[in-house]
Amino acid sequence: MGVYRERVLPRIINVLCGVKASEPIRRRVCEGLAGDVVEIGFGSGLNVPFYPTAITRVTAVEPADMAWKLADKRVTSTTVPVERSGLDGQSLPFEENSYDAALSTWTLCTIPDVAAALHELRRVLKPGGTLHFVEHGLAPDESVRRWQQRLEPVQKRVLGGCHLTRPIVDLLTTAGFTITELDVFYEKSAPKFEAAYSLGIAISP
Ligand SMILES: C[S@@+](CC[C@H](N)C(=O)[O-])C[C@H]1O[C@@H](n2cnc3c(N)ncnc32)[C@H](O)[C@@H]1O
Repeated sequence: MGVYRERVLPRIINVLCGVKASEPIRRRVCEGLAGDVVEIGFGSGLNVPFYPTAITRVTAVEPADMAWKLADKRVTSTTVPVERSGLDGQSLPFEENSYDAALSTWTLCTIPDVAAALHELRRVLKPGGTLHFVEHGLAPDESVRRWQQRLEPVQKRVLGGCHLTRPIVDLLTTAGFTITELDVFYEKSAPKFEAAYSLGIAISP
């Protein structure tokens, strides 16, 4: 990884993802998490303040050392034990059927092989385990999609491979998850091309 990806980008993401408008969304997506949880694309730990106390431990999967460093205060000031023990969502170093739940917030846009990451989540989740997710992706409206297609090459270059046009719901169902809760909406404080959100819960078979 170069200096930009390694040292600068995690700070930019910490600011962009740390906006006030994301807080109610983080609270919503974390609601109901319990037991042993794996969080992929942990970033700077912006979900930590919203972890329910029913969580027994969180395993953080995050490639960027700088992001983990930025997470330090959040990790040390929660009562939920959080340990970083994976670097890549595409290949998780965990036993199968070892987690009750998984969490992914604005991460499926960035992981290069998203199908591999979802396959890994299914593998490590217990049967009936839940994936709580909020992701931005392909917009419901054609006019917004056209902008997403135009802007995606720039977005990918500037934001570490972040795609704008991934069809989140299709990716989850193709991977074998059953979506039991879903809200698709535009988050009002951001431009529509990057604010087409899918928030919900998917069950691993
Ligand atoms: C847009 S950020 C979101 C961070 C965090 N989930 C949040 O909500 O603030 C995407 C995160 O995915 C991480 N990431 C990139 N490639 C990854 C991979 N292969 N496996 C796991 N995480 C990855 C990035 O380092 C970054 O922290």
